[in-house]
Amino acid sequence: MGSLDPSFIQELEHRPKFNMVEAEGIPVIDLSCDDYLPSRIGDACQTWGFFQVINHGVPSDLRRRVEVLAKEFFDQPVEEKLKVKRDEVHPMGFHDSEHTKNIRDWKEVFDFFLQDPTLVPASCEFEDKELRELTNQWPADFPEFRSVLEEYARAVEKLAFRLLELISLSLGLPADRFNSYFKEQTSFLRINHYPPCPQPELALGVGRHKDGGALTVLFQDSVGGLQIQRRSDDEWISVRPVPDSYVINLGNAMQAWTNDKYWSAEHRVVVNTQKERFSIPFFFFPGHQVNVKPLDELTGELNPPLYKEFNWGKFFVMRNRSDFKKLDVENIQI
Ligand code: SIN
Ligand code: FE2
Repeated sequence: MGSLDPSFIQELEHRPKFNMVEAEGIPVIDLSCDDYLPSRIGDACQTWGFFQVINHGVPSDLRRRVEVLAKEFFDQPVEEKLKVKRDEVHPMGFHDSEHTKNIRDWKEVFDFFLQDPTLVPASCEFEDKELRELTNQWPADFPEFRSVLEEYARAVEKLAFRLLELISLSLGLPADRFNSYFKEQTSFLRINHYPPCPQPELALGVGRHKDGGALTVLFQDSVGGLQIQRRSDDEWISVRPVPDSYVINLGNAMQAWTNDKYWSAEHRVVVNTQKERFSIPFFFFPGHQVNVKPLDELTGELNPPLYKEFNWGKFFVMRNRSDFKKLDVENIQI
């Protein structure tokens, strides 16, 4: 068994524990039942910042085609995958050295923006109003990969809008309260491949982090490995895979909009020596022009805003830089 490259090794206190509590409490919500959906979703957003959904309307056969194509893509020799490697001009594509909090993640990814091109600020400077167009890249000899992934992304986007509306209702707001923020969204779909790892006690598939946007709609296969930190006591809990379900979690923007009523939970992925794992998150992100701040309807004298207004586009550009910690949700607290 080879030893791990030091770039993958987590500090002692962040190494995974394997004697984990299974997440009894994370709610599984049936979206085909109309009764009490907003209130069940609201409870889950408050207590966990995480829930799973079944009967979600995304066609299972389409998702299975994505899974087959994902395996086919990552099974290729690395030289092939590097033809669509991320670079300065294409921040999306294939990438095999993702870092979270400066430690390398044990995974490889392929991702693409929902909108092509996607507009973002040219820099993070406060005064700079210039925009930049970001475009996708696709493997040249693999047309089905692109067409199926694009079709799938649209189906998951539909589910994301439905969830956004249910969340809005759960807050006592009109269903479409958040919709205008997503007219020029910066959302993207990612495929994660976690190969077996020779020393899973030292590394993580993804290091601990919070997602940035409104919400994430994640498909995970049956292998398992996703763990979340429970809001009430910071305990790490594993999210048991439920067949044909999606894991939904809220991001920093939703936490800020709701002034901490709803929660963006820290999470991470553990790996294992035996089985490769695939997951497919859709990151539902607002448009670059959106200024995120606690909603007026949810704040007042008794509940003063906890966050300063921040521009989503600049936050997005900053997140993709190695010094991103500067703009994590903690840093916009008042
Ligand atoms: C992530 O949080 O980025 C990935 C989660 C997963 O693979 O389950
Ligand atoms: Fe995440």
